Amino acid sequence: MFNKLCIIGVGLIGGSVAKAARANGLAKTIVGYGREQDMFNLQTAKRLGVIDEFYIDSVGWVSDSVTQQNADTHVGLRLSPNPTYAIEQAVQNADCVLIATPVASIEAIFTQLKPFWSKDTIYTDVGSTKGSVIAAAERVFGVVPDNLVPAHPIAGAEQSGVEAALVDLFFHKRLIITPAKCANPAAVQTIKAFWQGQGALVSVMDAQHHDSILAATSHLPHILAFALVDMLGHKDEQTEIFKYAAGGFRDFTRIASSDPLMWKDICAANKQEILPLIEQLRAELAKIHGLLVNDDYQQLFSTFAYAKSARQRFLNQFEVPIMSKSITFHIQNGGKLQGEARVPGDKSMSHRSIMLGSLAEGVTHVKGFLEAEDALATLQAFRDMGVEIEGPVNGELTIHGVGKHGLKKPEGDLYLGNSGTSMRLLSGLLAGQLFNSVLTGDKSLSGRPMKRVTEPLALMGADIKTTEKGTAPLVITGKAGQLQGIDYLMPMASAQVKSCLILAGLYAQGETSVTEPAPTRDHTERMLAGFSYPVKQEDSKVTVTADGKLTAADIDVPSDISSAAFFLVGASIAEGSDLLLKHVGINPTRTGVIDILRLMGANIEVLNEREVGGEPVADLHVVYSPLKGIDIPEDLVPLAIDEFPVLFVAAACAKGQTRLSGAEELRVKESDRIQVMADGLQILGVDAVPTADGMIIQGGGNIGGGTVTSHGDHRIAMAFSIAGLRASAPITVLDCANVNTSFPEFKDLVKNLGLDLVCEES
Ligand code: S3P
Repeated sequence: MFNKLCIIGVGLIGGSVAKAARANGLAKTIVGYGREQDMFNLQTAKRLGVIDEFYIDSVGWVSDSVTQQNADTHVGLRLSPNPTYAIEQAVQNADCVLIATPVASIEAIFTQLKPFWSKDTIYTDVGSTKGSVIAAAERVFGVVPDNLVPAHPIAGAEQSGVEAALVDLFFHKRLIITPAKCANPAAVQTIKAFWQGQGALVSVMDAQHHDSILAATSHLPHILAFALVDMLGHKDEQTEIFKYAAGGFRDFTRIASSDPLMWKDICAANKQEILPLIEQLRAELAKIHGLLVNDDYQQLFSTFAYAKSARQRFLNQFEVPIMSKSITFHIQNGGKLQGEARVPGDKSMSHRSIMLGSLAEGVTHVKGFLEAEDALATLQAFRDMGVEIEGPVNGELTIHGVGKHGLKKPEGDLYLGNSGTSMRLLSGLLAGQLFNSVLTGDKSLSGRPMKRVTEPLALMGADIKTTEKGTAPLVITGKAGQLQGIDYLMPMASAQVKSCLILAGLYAQGETSVTEPAPTRDHTERMLAGFSYPVKQEDSKVTVTADGKLTAADIDVPSDISSAAFFLVGASIAEGSDLLLKHVGINPTRTGVIDILRLMGANIEVLNEREVGGEPVADLHVVYSPLKGIDIPEDLVPLAIDEFPVLFVAAACAKGQTRLSGAEELRVKESDRIQVMADGLQILGVDAVPTADGMIIQGGGNIGGGTVTSHGDHRIAMAFSIAGLRASAPITVLDCANVNTSFPEFKDLVKNLGLDLVCEES
């Protein structure tokens, strides 16, 4: 990418950039530059092969005879009697000059660089404050040069010096680029690609925004740690308090061991952002002071409890999901999908078959049940509530229904794993039972919003406690006979909320009506009707009452169109593909993916349409066809809500721009599917820009290889695997164990049909 990269300051950060640039083929020649006191670091960097050559500024050199001796014997050293000569040599013909020195030195470095500033070079830095870099450039150059692209990798390590440099210091770490308004877009793009090539997750924002974020989360905590130790250190001199200080003090003050000179400089550089935060902190301390003075311990508790949950939210971002094993998919690029397949049963219907089969009177036989972790979590929950369920064997189950009032109090919590559908639907069903219950889930499920169900349920008289954030565990006090029907207009298009309220409505007095802002999957309504339960449907409003019973009925679960979607996209993007997907559910509330792909030019035929157990089913024939970018109609969003991860891959392969909007719900799925897909696509070299409610993808370019993570989200893992069909190099997808929540057979099936995927378990 760069023929010559010059790094000014080859310490921990500069050295790590050099190592990563070399490892990822981002620079042919890497040179270092420093002052006389940096010589040791530069010598070490060259000895370790981190840089190819280095240059030193000779100011003050002659007075230091020991260093002179070392220097003279060192091959890599370039000395000059003229202090500017070394820097001129260092930056000559460099495509990129990267300044990796403390923020306070950047103005002096700009001044040194000014006589040799070249329009053919891109200049960037890694300083932790950005407004100061732009201001320094204005002072030195008059205006900010358009080829200066300031950046800040949010990564570091306790140690310093090039010996501590790490090739993966920036891998999967956030990096913020803060171009001035006048910056040359091509230069910004080059720096973005340079960091993405090292695996960094790049965001672009203005310098002031960057500085305000960092002031709050980095600079203020350092000030606080320094301040506390300053205050207590003086006390300690008189009363030896440190002798009795333990882990809490050590943890809180760890960052007060940071370099005081560097932090003095950072605070000075970002003073404008830091000062108002100190004022806010004063007010917060004054609030706590007041609560203590007034013995307001309830408020004090709320303040502490809120802080604890906010910190958990922060920690959740880093936690590796607890899985029995870690699974990585290695995908060889290329291939095509050919043949015939039947993907596993529909997840939404499998959940509902257990729920309604259990509440029915009589024995329900289920065929095509999805034997994957999510549906099995629902199955286990009903066994825990005393329902006898035989199977599953080859997708077949026999449920001995206990009737609407036959569920028993579970002995322990009901653990629902990763399944949002189980938790939200069960919250409605359990709100009106005779017994209390507690619903728990894994880390991802415990972070997902539950207020969307607990708030309307509370309007019905339910008693469900969540965490302060409105997340699981859900502690449900059964209110048998006390729920009241409501007429609820859903604020978002959610089948889970609708189904939750319908299930609560089976136990409520009067009518329970739910109106949806846009059509969502209607499997609950259809299956209730299949069990002979009265359900009234008028336009977008569905109404139930408690007057009725469910009569056992056999269920044939069709293949899940959400699982078929990976193959619909795979065959559409890989030249030479020709695939027949059998017995797929094509309920009109689920077929958005077919409509969107067809609008993009896909060749999908719907064959042999039939109705099985109240649900439309068909075989889908898909043949490769070049795709074009589109603006995805917003009315199709709820009808394809689970398919966007793989539709983003289709968009990356489509010629031109694809724009998705109105899909903010994607941010609260098993992962934040907008951010996680944009991050991964960018790593693969795709121009994908996340927006608050969607994404803009410039498709048709090259999809590169690389390592991406699924963030424990099954659909992300499968979407990036499918991208391998069109990639120019192999793709590795980390954290794929969650594919087992919806599609355990994926890896084998996709391999049989033509994608070279190797699954590594550790
Ligand atoms: C589902 C509804 C959808 C979908 C989920 C399954 C269901 O969620 O994303 O995978 O079975 O009702 P929302 O209702 O939250 O959109």
